[in-house]
Amino acid sequence: MMNRREFISRSCMACATGTITAAILSSCSPTKYVQGSVSADGLLISTDAFLDKQNSARQFVIAHHDSLEYPIYVFRLSDTEYRALWMKCTHQGSELQASGDHLYCPSHGSEFDSNGKVAQGPAELNLRSFPVIINSNTLLIKLS
Ligand code: FES
Repeated sequence: MMNRREFISRSCMACATGTITAAILSSCSPTKYVQGSVSADGLLISTDAFLDKQNSARQFVIAHHDSLEYPIYVFRLSDTEYRALWMKCTHQGSELQASGDHLYCPSHGSEFDSNGKVAQGPAELNLRSFPVIINSNTLLIKLS
C-alpha cells in the first residue's frame, strides 16, 4: 500500500511529465479557498466556487470564515450533492490538509476519506460532518 507521501510524490511527478489523465490533472490544481458568509443557520458559499477557470467542476473547496476555528472541506459529489467536513483532526485537534478526496493530518499522519471516515490512524474517530442544503446557486452548510 502506498503511503501519502509516496502518493503525492508520484502524482506530482505524473503531472510534471504529462503522463496522466485530465481527471488526475484536475486534482493537481491549486486548492480553492472560499470566504463564506455567516447566516443564522450556518455558512453560505456559492456553487460557483467549484468552477475553475475552464468552467470545469472542482472536486472540493475549502470554506472558511474568521468566526470559525477551523475551515470546512466541502466535497462535491454532483451538482446536487455536497459533503462538508470540519477540518479538525480527531486525534489531537490539528488542522487537516486536503488533497483531492482525502484529508490528512500533518501532525501524526492520520488520514480521512471524503466521507470523513478514518483511513489511517492514529485518529480513531471520524470527522465531524455538517448537512449541506442547496438553494439555487448557494450552499448552506448547517453548523448547528
Ligand atoms: S493531531 Fe492529527 S494525527 Fe495527531
